[in-house]
Order: sequence, then C-alpha cells, then structure tokens
Amino acid sequence: MLKNSVERMRVDPIGPLKGELTLPGDKSITHRAIILGSLADGVTEITGALRSHDCRDTAKAFGTMGITVEELGNDRLRIRGCGLGGLKEPEEVLDLGNSGTTMRLLAGVLAAQPFFSVLTGDRYLRARPMARVAMPLRSMGATILGRDGGNFPPLAIKGTHLRAIDYVSPIASAQVKSAILLAGLFAEGETTVTEPSLSRDHTERMFEAIGIPIHRNGLRLRVSGVKTIPAFQIAIPGDFSAAAFFLVAALVIPGSELTLRGVGINPTRTGLLDALQSMGAVIEVSRRRIISGEPVADLHVRSQALHGTEVVGALIPRMLDEIPVFAVAAALATGATTIRDAAELRVKEVNRLAALDQELRRFGVQIEQRHDGMVIQGSASLSGCHCNSWGDHRIAMALAVAGLAARGSTTISDPSCVGSSFPDFWTRLDTILPGAAVPLEV
Ligand code: S3P
Repeated sequence: MLKNSVERMRVDPIGPLKGELTLPGDKSITHRAIILGSLADGVTEITGALRSHDCRDTAKAFGTMGITVEELGNDRLRIRGCGLGGLKEPEEVLDLGNSGTTMRLLAGVLAAQPFFSVLTGDRYLRARPMARVAMPLRSMGATILGRDGGNFPPLAIKGTHLRAIDYVSPIASAQVKSAILLAGLFAEGETTVTEPSLSRDHTERMFEAIGIPIHRNGLRLRVSGVKTIPAFQIAIPGDFSAAAFFLVAALVIPGSELTLRGVGINPTRTGLLDALQSMGAVIEVSRRRIISGEPVADLHVRSQALHGTEVVGALIPRMLDEIPVFAVAAALATGATTIRDAAELRVKEVNRLAALDQELRRFGVQIEQRHDGMVIQGSASLSGCHCNSWGDHRIAMALAVAGLAARGSTTISDPSCVGSSFPDFWTRLDTILPGAAVPLEV
C-alpha cells in the first residue's frame, strides 16, 4: 500500500500491457456482505473480500456497534453477527471516511434501530447529498437530521419501529434502493421500491443467495420484514470497476494483450463493455460461471482502434463508475464521443464531470462539458502533463491510464486516494508494467 507521504505519482508510457491479472474483490458486494453478515445470526464467512478503506469503514462502524469483524488473512473475513435486534448504540460518532455506500446503506439500517447514532465522513463525503435516503427513511418513521435540512452529513439518526412504504425513486441509485430494502427488512408490512432504470442489483442478488425473500416485477422490488437472517458463507467476485482501468489501458496502449481473471460481469455493472463494443472493441468473455449468485468470467483484451460513440439513458447507471476511464478511451478514439444523462457524476466523490473536463484538457484533449455529460473529441495522442486526482480514487486511476497512453511523463497528485477502492492499484500496475508508476515523495 502507498505511503501517505507520497505526494505525486509519476506515470510513464513504457509500453504494452501483457499477461494476466486477478482483481481485488468487488467493493459494492463486500459492503453488502459485511452489513448482512453483521445483522445475521451466527458466524458469517466472506472470502475474496475487498480490503479497501471504504470496506474497512463499513466493518469499523459495525465494530463500534458491538459486532466482531475479524480479518483472517488471504482476503477472508469472519463476522460474528448479532441478529437483527443485536446492534448496540454507538458511543461515538461513526466516521465513515470517504464511503458514500457505507453512509447511505447504514442509514437504512440505523433508521430501524431503537437508538441514536451520528454519521460523518471526510470532507468529500460531507459534501454529498443525503436527502435521497433521508426523505424515504423519514417517511418510514425515522428521525433524521443533518446540515442543510438533513441533506448533508453529519447525519443524526433516531431510529424507530419502521412502517413499510411504497417508494418511487426519482433516480436510478443502488445506494438509495439498498437503503430502503435494508430498512424494509425491519419494517412492519411490505416495502416496495421502484427505480426509473435498473441500477446495480447486488443487494437483491445477495438477499436471494442467502435466503431473504425478495420479489422483482420489472423495476419494482418488494420485501417484507423478517425475523432473522441466517449466517452465510459467501465468495466475492473480482471488481469489474477495478478491472475497467486495466481493460481500457490494454485497449488503448498498442501491442497490449491482457487477461483479467475472475471478474464480476453482473449486467447491471458492465455497461462499459457495451460502450466499448459500440466503439468497435472486441473483448472476449470466457469461463462464465456463477459465484454466490453473481455472474463471473475471464476477460481477454487486445489493443484495438476505437471510434467515437454516444452513451445515454439506461446505459449510464450500468457504467456510472466507469465513466472516468471511459472518457480516456474516448479521448483516444477516432471522432467524437457524447455522454448524456450523467448528471449524477456531479455528486460522486467529487464533481467528476468538472474533474474530467479540467484534467483531460491538461493532456491536450478537446472536451466540452454539458450539464449532464460531455462531448470528447478523440485524437491520435495525448501529451503527458501534471494533473490532479481531486482526491477521487477513480479520477486518479483514470488519469493513470491516460498517462500510460500519453507521450512523455505524467504526474498525478494525491495518488493514495486509490485506497478507497483499490489500495494495490499502483503496485499492481508496477508489477504488470515495471517502472510505469514511480512514487514521488515529499
Ligand atoms: C454503489 C452504487 C453506485 C456507485 C457506487 C457504489 C453501491 O452509486 O456509484 O460507487 O455499492 O450501491 P448509486 O447509488 O448512484 O447507484
């Protein structure tokens, strides 16, 4: 893992990516396994868990509420769950670091607890909108206060015995959907959530895999209150969002050929594959299998010429976290690429549309920012530059891919922010391309 004293990372374009990689465990699925394992009765074992800052913050929050989460080595976690009624009132404020998923999903659980809790996070998380979960959870009966009328953390939650609601979400957000589904497990009666288009469905799949009844009808989900959750064993697939950086790097760096093993290919997550295919890319998907209710495969990719495309509508929630690295692919394609319906990117860890606009320009990319997306003019080459990660893990890793494909050296500020989702990113990169990533200490 990277030392905090590393101020910048130098990335050099030192050639093609060859060989194979296995990716760390999926972040979204690891969070959900820790949450449900903590609420289950008995000992839950998780293999292939992601050990990133965000997932550790979820485990730490449950630790503060009396749950033992042991790291057993080899990416195994053992959780001694205390049952649906077993959490203890936290004596201290729960600091959730950079993790929006932790804050929003936990809000759904805490809304149902017979105690008081306060949730906060780093300066990025404290700037992220929480009304999207606070409003429906209030209508289930919880009291939730926060800055700006309850929209910004810190959030103070006084839980209660919840009543079921029928919630029609205005946004396709897996965090909102999951907060309500988790709250629904504690509620009296049947809770329904409908979203405008399908966001990642890991919560639904995990409910099914561990035996919690859940029903889907189109975009509408139904859950009822349960008495217990049985402890479970679960294996976490490799994170498609982590694979995406290497996938795009191998596509755009001439002469590359890379196999990514054991990657989650849940269709609610693989919009990037569809978008790249619409740019002319051929990505081989092999050894398809199901692990813990999630589809998994190996991906094989060679460098290829790409052409511009348009990504809009229901594709956007399916590639939400991949848009930063997709923008790098677009910058190296022939012709223009348009991204629309992606205003949600403005309320991620940072305003990712603004960050991409500003940082890709430094590489010489012609880019036009729109209120809900951007238009990127592809070019044959990028110029190495000094650029900023904005403290956002996915911006940092996308810029690293741009740096690998550029002419000349690139330096990236605050590279340790990758720790939110992919703490080994720089070392993995250096293993597959020795000398490509050089830490510059203060
Ligand atoms: C996540 C949902 C997504 C995604 C985030 C993780 C999750 O956000 O951007 O990185 O694990 O539920 P939305 O709530 O916008 O879908």
